[in-house]
Amino acid sequence: MPVESPSYLMICTGPNCGERGGRTLVRGLRDLLIERGQHGPTRVAPVSCFGQCATGPYGCAWPNGAFVTGLDASRPEVALAALSAQPAPANPADPA
Ligand code: FES
Repeated sequence: MPVESPSYLMICTGPNCGERGGRTLVRGLRDLLIERGQHGPTRVAPVSCFGQCATGPYGCAWPNGAFVTGLDASRPEVALAALSAQPAPANPADPA
């Protein structure tokens, strides 16, 4: 029987993003997923630094590939919606 892979929300809790609410957002997202019965299929993972420190808190989602800056720790439902969105399609003019 195949096992479905969970999806991950990776939230930066590094020195800059952590100061701006990254750690609070990890807890808020986990609480929200538990409240919605989605914790397990979707997991929240703290990450030490994405190298995007000036615009954090920063997060990304796997496998959908959403990257979001400026996440608001006081509104985990907004962060969840942003991270759950599908990324914009690649520009067909860009070389592959
Ligand atoms: S501290 Fe968050 S991207 Fe560097």
